[in-house]
Amino acid sequence: MPKINAGPFPDRALLEEAGRLIRAGRLVAFPTETVYGLGANALDAAAVRRIFEVKGRPATSPLIVHVNSLEMARGLASEWPPEAQLLAERFWPGPLTLILPKAACVPDAVTAGLPTVGLRMPAHPAALALIREAGVPIAAPSANRFTELSPTTAEHVRAALGEAVDLILDGGAAQVGIESTVLSLAVSPPRLFRPGMVTREAIEALIGPVEYAGRLENGEGAAHPSPGMHLRHYSPRTALLLITDPRELPAGRGVCVHRNWRLPSEVAGVRMPESSAAYAAALYETLHRLDQQGWDWIAVEAPPEGPEWAAIADRLRRAASRAGGR
Ligand code: TXA
Ligand code: MG
Repeated sequence: MPKINAGPFPDRALLEEAGRLIRAGRLVAFPTETVYGLGANALDAAAVRRIFEVKGRPATSPLIVHVNSLEMARGLASEWPPEAQLLAERFWPGPLTLILPKAACVPDAVTAGLPTVGLRMPAHPAALALIREAGVPIAAPSANRFTELSPTTAEHVRAALGEAVDLILDGGAAQVGIESTVLSLAVSPPRLFRPGMVTREAIEALIGPVEYAGRLENGEGAAHPSPGMHLRHYSPRTALLLITDPRELPAGRGVCVHRNWRLPSEVAGVRMPESSAAYAAALYETLHRLDQQGWDWIAVEAPPEGPEWAAIADRLRRAASRAGGR
């Protein structure tokens, strides 16, 4: 069994141990404000390769490198344009990953051979403390197996990865709840690879027009411009469908995730929060829970239009498009 702290927050001794493990080339799962990460020393190629083994992730998917200071971030990029400075000052620590040309010290194992690196300063005290204790940047994908739902609690990590990870830092339920916005500043104009709770509109207000990379199919093979954008990602095992009206509910034993619908009395329902931020924070937790309950299907009310719902709509479309689902 991996070691996990019993209390609500890892104590100093456990953080020190986690830092030592990272420096020794081992893996530590840790909380961030978005989802839990599976971390290794970003400067140690062998340690980083173990992340890919444990996740069952193709080596063509680059990892995000987590930092605890602007100085550490700058040391990992070979260029630091004014846009990076503006965005980092405004949104870090927080759920925004910046793709920049990589510095020579970043191993190819981290970037899947790409000349760029993804950088992010997470807004979680345990994540920042871990990086400080380790004294090195930490490469981490979400701490789930490839194509499965991202974990938003330490228990999700334990259930998904179990023995494969040495230590899990439990920092409570993730407050943002879906993965960071991924923005490339290595191209002009800047390109949004993955929508997140830092919206395109908020980014554009600061640095001007941004292109959206759009939905990309599940092609494997050569390194993808942003391989995490494969369509069959973020999926529960249960078939998930998006619907716009309760009349679209299929027959059989299912559950409907909605915001304020009136459901037929025979249909089980889960009511979600009205605000996009609270909805995002609850989404994966809800899907993880329902996925354990043996339903034939999970029907989700399509989220509203609007910039603040874009990332939620993106994750739900991906979850609904899994093989075997609809
Ligand atoms: O919120 C998050 O970003 C979480 C927490 C743990 O920080 N991490 C996460 O990692 O979601 P992962 O590996 O599941 O997704 C990383 C995303 C993928 O879409 C990947 O393609 C993209 O970031 N990415 C990383 N480095 C890249 C690069 N150099 N060029 C293009 N895309 C990159
Ligand atoms: Mg992931």
